[in-house]
Amino acid sequence: MLAGWSLPCRAPYLCFLLPDAMGQTTVTQQERQVTVEEGNTFQISCTYQTSNFDAFLWYQQKEGQAPQLVTYQPTAGTKQNGRFTTWLNTTAKYSLLQLAEVELSDSALYLCAVKDTLVHTSSLHQEL
Ligand SMILES: *[C@@H]1O[C@H](CO)[C@@H](O)[C@H](O)[C@H]1NC(C)=O
Repeated sequence: MLAGWSLPCRAPYLCFLLPDAMGQTTVTQQERQVTVEEGNTFQISCTYQTSNFDAFLWYQQKEGQAPQLVTYQPTAGTKQNGRFTTWLNTTAKYSLLQLAEVELSDSALYLCAVKDTLVHTSSLHQEL
């Protein structure tokens, strides 16, 4: 389902495509597509349900490329990786991804996934 997607936006807008909630996964993204002007801040969220939480992961997948891990966050709180900041709340079971000062090259599919202690439940299953 991730294959063959294309970006319908053009500069000066950046497209951030978000995947459907898939199959048996318990990860949900609210937004389907977000457009942001260059230089602005992009933010998306994911909620999840699992009784065996191990870590929360965000991936960035550019068109025609394999997903790249943006953050791997095993504990609640804030994590920063360059222009990316993620917040994880393991009580409310959600994570936010923020990307500051977006550039045209940030246009991508942004994927969230939960790793649990039993199996690797992930919307990226087909890609891995
Ligand atoms: C996490 O979510 C819970 C429930 O919504 C909230 O009470 C708590 O303040 C949140 N924690 C942080 C650090 O934001």
